[in-house]
Amino acid sequence: MGKIEELRALQAEMEEDKKLPLRSANLVFGEGSPDAAVCFIGEAPGLTEDQLKRPFVGRAGQLLNKLIEGVGWKREEVYITNIVKRRPPENRDPLPEEIEAYRPYLARQIAILKPKIIAPLGRFSMNYFLPEAKITRDQGKLFRVGDHLVYPLFHPAAALRGTGTMNALTESFRRLPDIVKRYEELFAKGAAAPSSKENFSQTSLFSS
Ligand code: URA
Repeated sequence: MGKIEELRALQAEMEEDKKLPLRSANLVFGEGSPDAAVCFIGEAPGLTEDQLKRPFVGRAGQLLNKLIEGVGWKREEVYITNIVKRRPPENRDPLPEEIEAYRPYLARQIAILKPKIIAPLGRFSMNYFLPEAKITRDQGKLFRVGDHLVYPLFHPAAALRGTGTMNALTESFRRLPDIVKRYEELFAKGAAAPSSKENFSQTSLFSS
């Protein structure tokens, strides 16, 4: 099976899984290139995402599109998804048990995609990969987690609420193409970094 078929099969399995929470909302599986070097991972779909069954298509999504295009890429060249793949009522924060329930599916989605860089958007997604990290301290730093480089970024919705956050997100985003280009070198550097757990390093590879 190729990646597209594997992703389709995973999506079908999720649709069928009656144990998943939030089942009254639509499944927003994710979209983009299955061969993307970069996978952006948000928190959970909002109202527009639920209605269109596509991730990041509301106001935060428009900003994400602008940032992607700002570094010379197209939205279709990256992959975009969320940790929790159905909208929580009233857009409340996802509950820990909802994140846990969707966790194995995100892990399998990433295992199919094999992106070089995972860019979590916001603290919920960042803490999925880096449980000890703090978004204000660690956004824009690069971490090695398993086979991936993880590059946490502020959530675009937070950037829409404050100029400082917007500037930091824009600045961190600007460095993404270089990180992709230097992936092999940076990954090798991370492999030598001390890890606190097996396959897990919270030691930032660079932070300047
Ligand atoms: N916010 C998210 O975290 N994800 C979306 O898909 C849209 C908004």
